[in-house]
Order: sequence, then C-alpha cells, then structure tokens
Amino acid sequence: MLKKDFLWGGAVAANQYEGAWNIDGKGPSVTDVMTKGSVDHPRDITEGVIEGREYPNHLGIDFYHHYQEDIKLFAEMGFKCFRLSIAWSRIFPRGDEKEPNEKGLEFYDAVFDECLKYGIQPVVTLSHFEMPYYLAHEYGGWRNRKMITFFIHYATVCFKRYAGKVKYWMTFNEINNLIDIDNPFNAWTGAGVLYKDGENAEETMYQISHYQFIASALAVQEAKRVDKEMQVGCMLHFGPIYPYSCDPKDAMASIKAMDRRFFFSDVQVRGKYPEYTKKLWQRKDFQLDITDEDLAVIKDGTVDYIGFSYYKSTTAKFDKENDFKEVPNPNVPKSDWGWAIDPTGLRYILNVVYERYGLPMFIVENGFGAYDKFENGTVNDNYRIEYLEKHVLEVLKAVDLDGVNVLGYTPWAAIDIISASTGEIEKRYGFIYVDQDEVKQGRAGRHKKASFDWYKNVISTNGACLTDKVG
Ligand code: BG6
Repeated sequence: MLKKDFLWGGAVAANQYEGAWNIDGKGPSVTDVMTKGSVDHPRDITEGVIEGREYPNHLGIDFYHHYQEDIKLFAEMGFKCFRLSIAWSRIFPRGDEKEPNEKGLEFYDAVFDECLKYGIQPVVTLSHFEMPYYLAHEYGGWRNRKMITFFIHYATVCFKRYAGKVKYWMTFNEINNLIDIDNPFNAWTGAGVLYKDGENAEETMYQISHYQFIASALAVQEAKRVDKEMQVGCMLHFGPIYPYSCDPKDAMASIKAMDRRFFFSDVQVRGKYPEYTKKLWQRKDFQLDITDEDLAVIKDGTVDYIGFSYYKSTTAKFDKENDFKEVPNPNVPKSDWGWAIDPTGLRYILNVVYERYGLPMFIVENGFGAYDKFENGTVNDNYRIEYLEKHVLEVLKAVDLDGVNVLGYTPWAAIDIISASTGEIEKRYGFIYVDQDEVKQGRAGRHKKASFDWYKNVISTNGACLTDKVG
C-alpha cells in the first residue's frame, strides 16, 4: 500500500511548455536557440535566433497564457503535486544581473497560488535543460566558475520568494546526462557549453560537473537557511544498464557503465568523490580546478532525497578499449523512437538506488512518447495506459514487496509539450492532447485523452485499483 500522502502528479519543464519566450522581460535561454529536429535529424544549436528557422520552444504550448485552465485540468485528474521548473532567464534575463525581473517572479507566484488553490503541491526544478543564453554566450556557461555565484543568487531569490509555497526542490535536471559527451545536446542544455575542436571534452565535463556540484550543495545549504522544511533533491537519469549476458566480463562491464551514471549521485548524496572517479582522473592525468573549500561545501550540502527519471534500460557488453559498450537489449520491445520499454527496470533501479543510498526516492519522470491520433475530440492512447500501468505496478511491488521508500510519481508529461531531444510536439507524452493549430489561433487547444480518466482513477484509489494485478 502506498502512503496516504503519496505524491501523485505530472511533470513538465518550463522551456518545453511555457512559451512566451521573450515576454514580460524574459531573456532567451539556451533552448531558445535550438531548432526543430526529428527522430533521425538532431536539433541545430544556432548562434542566436535566426530569422526563418523554426524554434518550437518559443511557443511551447503557451502555458504562460493558459496556466489556469491547465492547472484546473490537473486538479480534475486529482494531482497532489505538479512538477515544473522555473525558467532561470525569466527571473534573470541575462543571468548576471543583481536585481531579478519582478514580472517573472510574479508569474510563478500566480502559478504556485493556482496550484495551491486546488491542494496541488508544486515540485520545482531550478535548472531543467536551460539557463540564460547570455551566460552561455558571454561567460562560456558552466566551464566558468562564476556560474556558481549567478546560480546561487538565482536559487536564493527563488527560495526566499517561494518559501511557504514550495517544499520540494531539485537543482539540476538529469545532471548525469553530462557524462555522454558525444551528444552536444547534453552539455548545451545541461551547462550552456559547446565543446571545442581539439579540447579534451571529458576533462571539461568533469570540471563543469564539479562547479555544478558546488552550486547544488550551496543551494541545499541556502534552502535550509531560508526554511528548514525545504527538501532539496538531486535529479538523475536512472535507466539500468544490465549485463548483456551472464559472461562475467559483461557483468563487470555493467558495473563500469553504471558507475558513470552513479558518479553524480555518489557525489551529491555522499558528499565526496568516489574512488573509481579519482582513479580515472589519475589514469588520464586530468588537472581539475578543485579546492579543499569546494570539497567542504560538497560535503556539507548533501541532498535530502533522490529525484530521478526512468524511461528505458539498456545493456553493457565487455569492450577491450573502453571497459564496455552499450548494446540494445534484444529481450524488450521499443517505442517508435527506439526507446526500450522495460517496466521491470523501474523496480530494478528503485531497489538498486535505494539499497545504495537509503534516501527517499521520487520518480519525477516516467512516460511513453508516441504519435497520437486525435479523433472525435480525443485520443485513445491505450498504449500509453498500458505502459504507465505496467510501470506503476512495478512501483507498487518496489514499495510493497521490497520496502523501498517512494515519495511520489510524476509521469512525463502532465500534458503534451515539446520533446526535449527532437523539438517535436508530435512525440507526445501527455494525458491532455494539445492541438498546436488551435493554440496558434489563440484557443486553448486542450483535449482529454483516454489516459486522463485512467490516471484519475489510479490517483483517486491511491493505486488500489491496480493492486490486484501485483503478481
Ligand atoms: C528527460 C527530460 O530526459 O526526458 C525531459 O528531463 C524530456 O525534459 C524527457 O522531455 C523525454 O525526452 P524527449 O526527448 O522525448 O522529450
């Protein structure tokens, strides 16, 4: 049985749904210069906003002007919480200002108040795949230590302004995506960094991460100073990387592959660098700017809970040169975007991470991106219901059978929004269908999908409508 106060809800990120990218003083963010892509064509990162190119995040789904009706729909589904992020460039348009943009602060006041009116608790990420473009362009993003000061100033303004309205915070969304240096999306959205030709991107990545660890740890400390009740979590991308086979070498490869994901949470939860990373730095002779004061800050700013996303799993196979290589799992089906569908992986990772750290776990993203067919005013998204149902069942097993402490579940996404990786709205995740054409015409363009009622039932029974299916 789930706890009575289990936080059912839904999740989104400011840059993917708010729109209003240059309204009421908001500055451009790093995602405002990313064009539309597709499943087989990556998004371009342009030098500023170029006329004639398509930037889907500029409009998002125009939540900025529709937040009241959207939150009303979330309330109708029975949401206990709503995970969203604050657009840093709405509060500090350039990022290095002393004074915040009052209009930006007012917008989130209005959103939080609207949520609280319905008893919906906002769960807030401070940096979800965005930062002011100016900081990336003028300062080099998180390769620059100055980011720590700018971030803490921003975080402190938010903590003070929204104390009493927001209890659960997260610092950097999927901070461990940085480890994948081959995909420019990760360093750009996560840190405002584009690696240069000839630079050792891996070494830079560890430097960027270090600065973010300090910023995150300082944010934890600051939040407690503002309000002791605030809970600040890390946010990780946690998909299991199973051994490809029972060959012991593959089992070892899996450990090495998972170390790369756990490196980030090991630092944020345990407050120190793991030995396997220190050894790697020695082997590679990485020279990083890390001081004793930094290490003390990291030690004193460990997180209160673990927020994480779970979408898919993969496998690791032994590889002589790199310890391992990732190989698709032949035992699980895939979505149209090639994402492995593996509900058991959610219970697996809940167990592994809870055993590793013992902190409360918050599943702040999980969902199924699919092409939806909008017919007769709705979408019969039974595939999404099936996906979510199977995953919720695994959460129930993790709680009931394994004793994992799970705080809540906020599927991705509360409503259709722009896909982060491809910039499409067509990769839909929501319980509510958004008709972009209607939005462009100034209408709401919101329509409930079949999954809307399914989720409403799950929440109203606190998952009990599914418990007879736990095998
Ligand atoms: C997570 C991100 O990685 O996955 C979200 O935190 C993102 O921002 C989600 O939208 C799904 O990915 P995508 O690329 O399908 O939108």
